[in-house]
Amino acid sequence: MTEEQTADFSPRSSKTEKANREAFARVFSSSPIPPAELVYSQLSLYLSRQELSRMLTLSDLYRSHVLETNGSLFEFGTCYGRTAALLTNLRAIFEPYNFTRKLAVFDTFAGLAGCSAKDGTHESAQDGAYSSGAGYENHLAAVLRHHESEAPIAHIGKHEIVKGDAAQTLDAYLRRHPETIVALAYFDFDIYAPTKACLERLRPHLTRRSVLVFDQLNCPEYPGETVALAEVFGLGRCDIRRSPLTPWISYVVAGDLIG
Ligand SMILES: C[S@@+](CC[C@H](N)C(=O)[O-])C[C@H]1O[C@@H](n2cnc3c(N)ncnc32)[C@H](O)[C@@H]1O
Repeated sequence: MTEEQTADFSPRSSKTEKANREAFARVFSSSPIPPAELVYSQLSLYLSRQELSRMLTLSDLYRSHVLETNGSLFEFGTCYGRTAALLTNLRAIFEPYNFTRKLAVFDTFAGLAGCSAKDGTHESAQDGAYSSGAGYENHLAAVLRHHESEAPIAHIGKHEIVKGDAAQTLDAYLRRHPETIVALAYFDFDIYAPTKACLERLRPHLTRRSVLVFDQLNCPEYPGETVALAEVFGLGRCDIRRSPLTPWISYVVAGDLIG
């Protein structure tokens, strides 16, 4: 593993919690459950309460905000792709015949790109942190194709993985897809520059029902996401909502911003 790959996904966890999780990871690695059965039906045996909370939160958001509007799903900063996979499966569960609900995910797959003074001094707020590793986009493509294959109308591909600095690649994506309407956009770059660039470029594609989801608002380790939102829309115009299920995810319905 490179130094970048060890970037801390849970900087608030205690040493004891981290040691417990390392020990549990060893239990998982030595699971006697056959791999095909493990990935198909037994993964919840090992699923953390924290991860289940995220899943329930995004499920609620999908049901209450996505289902009754048109448009695509976006994830800005996908890393290993857990949210992309979750959104793919929520689509399959809640609207299995909506073959028009596309998912576009953006990442360098080489870690944070564009860190600046606006991102503070936390040790993980530096370019290259959270790299998913060389060629990871190919693995993610195989994972998303598999999940799509388990849902109806599987011959129509429903995702696009866009590799590179999203501050640049989103422009090209929107030129390829001028039809874009945003149903839900999940911002998880952690940092200022790509968050601000993508919020600005996405703005003409928002409707009153588009929902913008953020993973790091009011986060001292990664101040840049909040600063970007403040500069693009103004915090005073944002009706920031959150789920009681998880501390980090918060969201704004765009009607509050563009109305
Ligand atoms: C915290 S991780 C995302 C976690 C992911 N959303 C999840 O649910 O597990 C942040 C990601 O943003 C990506 N990223 C940061 N800056 C970027 C940029 N300028 N363009 C594209 N991706 C970027 C990083 O490569 C990293 O994978």
